[in-house]
Amino acid sequence: MLCTHDATKQRLLDTFSIPKDISIKSHSAETRGSETVHRLEWSDGHESEYSRSFLYQAMFDARRKAVQRQALVGIKLWDSSIASDPPKTLYVNAMNPNSNDLLSRLRRFGFCYVDETSFENPKATKKMLEKIAFIRETHYGGFYDFTADLASKDTAYTNIALEAHTDTTYFSDPAGLQAFHLLSHTDGEGGASLLVDGFKAADELWHTDRKAYEILSTVNVHGHASGNEGISIQPYRGFPVLEHDTATGDLLRVRWNTSDRASIELPIEEVETWYDAARKFDAILKKKENEYWEQLVPGRVLIFDNWRVLHGRSSFTGKRRICGAYINRDDWISKFKMRRFGKENVLKGLAVN
Ligand SMILES: [Fe+2]
Repeated sequence: MLCTHDATKQRLLDTFSIPKDISIKSHSAETRGSETVHRLEWSDGHESEYSRSFLYQAMFDARRKAVQRQALVGIKLWDSSIASDPPKTLYVNAMNPNSNDLLSRLRRFGFCYVDETSFENPKATKKMLEKIAFIRETHYGGFYDFTADLASKDTAYTNIALEAHTDTTYFSDPAGLQAFHLLSHTDGEGGASLLVDGFKAADELWHTDRKAYEILSTVNVHGHASGNEGISIQPYRGFPVLEHDTATGDLLRVRWNTSDRASIELPIEEVETWYDAARKFDAILKKKENEYWEQLVPGRVLIFDNWRVLHGRSSFTGKRRICGAYINRDDWISKFKMRRFGKENVLKGLAVN
């Protein structure tokens, strides 16, 4: 009990000072509220307390532990039919620290709209995003507010069509959430937004071509961002398109960006196997029934899980003003877990999950 800092929850004890042959000297149990607490005295004089619920969690299987650690709850795969009832909430709910409306939908569907957001003042969008967690800075800046003018050297800043992709595959830790808010579109048309559920596409590949799935899950792919002056960002290692939890096998992240892809980590004579598998995944991503198209409108912020949902857009004419930002994955999942399980429960699972 004295070996953990009460406020910071950090370990204070030098673990390696514990004798290797330590044993239990005595045990007692008492009831505190609704909890049974076991008290142990160790042979080196240390005393420990373990609640029954803690000991119970230690016996969970790997899958159940991952559910709490990563908040793998209620994930629902979707296809184009989600257009009839897409997940959405209101600005007022997204701003309410006691509401889990936005984050639970983001976890379940991988995206959510926030309606009734001011489109006259981009600061309202920024404020709402900061309620989730702090905004991530990149070489493009932090919170952005731009019109298509190629100010940053990336196709995202042009008016050409963009195929479904995930962003920032050139980082070791790609952005967790991404938000777009179309503030205005004048003197033109087009620019519908495309969303594809990467987890659903992966599931389809798993069921139709196990070998291709395995290749995309094991072969490392490199990426880069080199358009801006003085910049060539590459992840510290290659990562597969489909990344899984090593303990449970759950799919955790989809990385898919043809524009930013660099080399495939295979001997030249085997590299074709990756392209064959990738071609199959690409065909699934481009199936009409997997594509959800929606025209963004001022006042409606689109937020999506960049580790799961791919995004794209059709070409457009005229002038579009868009604001948005990235948020780190660990930060938004932490916020979601606090609201879903409560900090006390998350902490109980720390040592065992
Ligand atoms: Fe993008």
